[in-house]
Amino acid sequence: MDPEPKKRRFPQEKHEQRRRKQEQFLKKVDKAKVKKEKEEEESKKFEAQKLVDQEKPMKEGYTISVALPGSILENAQSLELRTYLAGQIARAATIFRVDELIVFDEEGQGPRTTEGEFTGIGKKGNCCVQMARILQFLECPQYLRKAFFPKHQDLQYAGLLNPLDAPHHARRNEKVPYREGVVLNRPVSAGKGSFVDCGLVKEVQIDRHLQPGVRVTVKMDKGTKGHAVSPRAPHTDAGLYWGYSVRLAPSLSCVMTECPYSGGYDLTVGTSERGESVDDHDLPSFRHILVVLGGLHGLEAAVTGDPKLQVSDPQPLFDLYLNTCPGQGSGTIRTEEALLITLTTLRPKIMQSGL
Ligand SMILES: C[S@@+](CC[C@H](N)C(=O)[O-])C[C@H]1O[C@@H](n2cnc3c(N)ncnc32)[C@H](O)[C@@H]1O
Repeated sequence: MDPEPKKRRFPQEKHEQRRRKQEQFLKKVDKAKVKKEKEEEESKKFEAQKLVDQEKPMKEGYTISVALPGSILENAQSLELRTYLAGQIARAATIFRVDELIVFDEEGQGPRTTEGEFTGIGKKGNCCVQMARILQFLECPQYLRKAFFPKHQDLQYAGLLNPLDAPHHARRNEKVPYREGVVLNRPVSAGKGSFVDCGLVKEVQIDRHLQPGVRVTVKMDKGTKGHAVSPRAPHTDAGLYWGYSVRLAPSLSCVMTECPYSGGYDLTVGTSERGESVDDHDLPSFRHILVVLGGLHGLEAAVTGDPKLQVSDPQPLFDLYLNTCPGQGSGTIRTEEALLITLTTLRPKIMQSGL
């Protein structure tokens, strides 16, 4: 037996094994290098994109306004049901990112403000006030309600309503880029801004000195520091839905003429079972759309009740007059149902045509 050949083959095999291992190792190194280069490239692209994004002008975005008569509350039999109905309107507005809710008086002489004492429900115009008050209450984050809504009979059942669960209703432990808050009456040395209750365990110190009791939108910085921004900033800067404003209009004409946006509403849509089928219409480009719904007797009642309007047919008042549920099965669609149907059917058209 000659052990030599074995001895000679052994180191050769070992050498071969080592060479293969080295090859594998080099392959791995190459792969890791390629991966790292790719990652670095991606990260450079990301940083470059961030710079481009920062240079982009802020997009104001389009707005959606919805008007409906406060009288729809009169059809509900009790305060509990009236409250629930107002809650349904608030939920629909939030689901569809409505920016402005307008409650108008069909008789053309309604109030403009929810301020003042409770004067009974059945009286003229009070349904509008009650509806507006409940809508405002629901829009306000829970932790701020005590500060902004003193006990009121209109709000007796509002605390039981389904919450809106909107982005500005952040919970105590939620880490969010923006928060709504109320400026606290706490002494701060000059130039040190104000303290704000933003629904967190600790108050947030903001850069600006603001009057105590004022509602403010805060962009959160590190820890409990922040700065005051416009209430529209969460929407324009971060694409967040930030609730709706509520406006009381004494009449239908005031809905149209007292628009809070500069330039006014550039697209108005009336709704009726007698309108043209929504399926046959796209929306033209717009910046501020207004969608108007009628009450028990349709928009005709609001037109007739408005002393400033000399017409009886609502159609000519609007750019579009739409039936949003062609071929409806039920004889009548209630306003709160029509609101959901209308916003559902208009949603893709709004997204396509909003500037
Ligand atoms: C109870 S309905 C009014 C029905 C009333 N009989 C009428 O003649 O108009 C209340 C509101 O819901 C909306 N609505 C009802 N059916 C609609 C439909 N098919 N298309 C669009 N809006 C509708 C309208 O705004 C209407 O004014």
